[in-house]
Amino acid sequence: MLVLGIESSCDETAVALVEDQASGTPRVLSSVISTQIPLHRLYGGVIPELASRNHSTNLPGVLKEALQQAGRSIHDVDVFASTAGPGLVAALLVGNTAAKALALTARKPFIAINHMEGHLLSPFIDHPGGLVPHLALVVSGGHTLLIDVQGIGQYRLLGRSRDDAAGEAFDKVAKMLDLPYPGGPEIDKRAAHGDAQRFAFPRPMIHEPHLDFSFSGLKTAVLYTLPTLVESGNPHDLSEQDMNDLCAGVRQAIIDVLLRKAMHAAKQTGHKVIAVSGGVSCNKALREQMAAACRRRNIELVLPPAHFTTDNAAMIAYAGYLHAQIGDFSPLDTPVDPNLKLAGTQIRA
Ligand code: KG4
Ligand code: ZN
Repeated sequence: MLVLGIESSCDETAVALVEDQASGTPRVLSSVISTQIPLHRLYGGVIPELASRNHSTNLPGVLKEALQQAGRSIHDVDVFASTAGPGLVAALLVGNTAAKALALTARKPFIAINHMEGHLLSPFIDHPGGLVPHLALVVSGGHTLLIDVQGIGQYRLLGRSRDDAAGEAFDKVAKMLDLPYPGGPEIDKRAAHGDAQRFAFPRPMIHEPHLDFSFSGLKTAVLYTLPTLVESGNPHDLSEQDMNDLCAGVRQAIIDVLLRKAMHAAKQTGHKVIAVSGGVSCNKALREQMAAACRRRNIELVLPPAHFTTDNAAMIAYAGYLHAQIGDFSPLDTPVDPNLKLAGTQIRA
């Protein structure tokens, strides 16, 4: 079975091909991403109208390249999968409509994929043995989720952010410090040269027994710290060291909360496997500290390779592959939904 996945929920236009192997583990034949980050950086964030226009111009080329790299023709594709939400509605429509049109003309099935499910499954793309029951920590620009995963489509929400997502906290603090968009990688880079102990930023809800998160207080804490460092309150007047220390403090505050809550959730559920995914899982310090915490507790940690942490279509094709295996196809009139929820995640623990 050859699955073609299309991702266009935000500022990456991506197409990937995934095919099953005799071994039973599917293989990513190609994963092409055309990023619009340099364009949106000019505006300090994603401009939805620009994103959808660019998806529309970039998608045909990305599709062609993905097929070429995979050495396959569009006629070889058995299933067409695309992100149906959550995301920017006009951006989602581009990839989704293309996938539906291709499925219609090729007379092949279509599958609408939840973008967060793509992230959630991404650590297992290259995992020997494939998807296993586990605790998922999904940390992206729009969501911070702890999910009890029993199998494909069997998801129980344990905790989520009550305000800003972890990635959003990185991005908003970076914006306040006038660092380029997206803030996560930028803060990460500077944090590597900073002292994480210098500023005692809040770790909201870290000791509370529930598994929800709150990250919005971080930007307020940084806002109040700025004038204590420079009278002007202008981030451009900060010394290099002050800036790096602020970044290190913010990064560590976010990591501490993610770590503590994930370990708490593993204890509660009894899971011996934790998978971390989403753009923030690209963060090297998070990966290292999570690995150390899991080692101490004899928990297996499954991480996606860096190129599958931020938005990509391999995770969408892989999710499509797993759904296709259980005959879970979508009608062609399935709408896109900018606020799409993950199946079953409405049920609180
Ligand atoms: O999963 P993703 O590509 O898109 C969404 O579905 O939202 O995640 C993007 C988020 C952004 O907030 C970005 O700042 C963050 O992931 N991010 C990082 C790093 N790389 C990307 N955050 C922390 N450290 C990084 N190295
Ligand atoms: Zn994403």
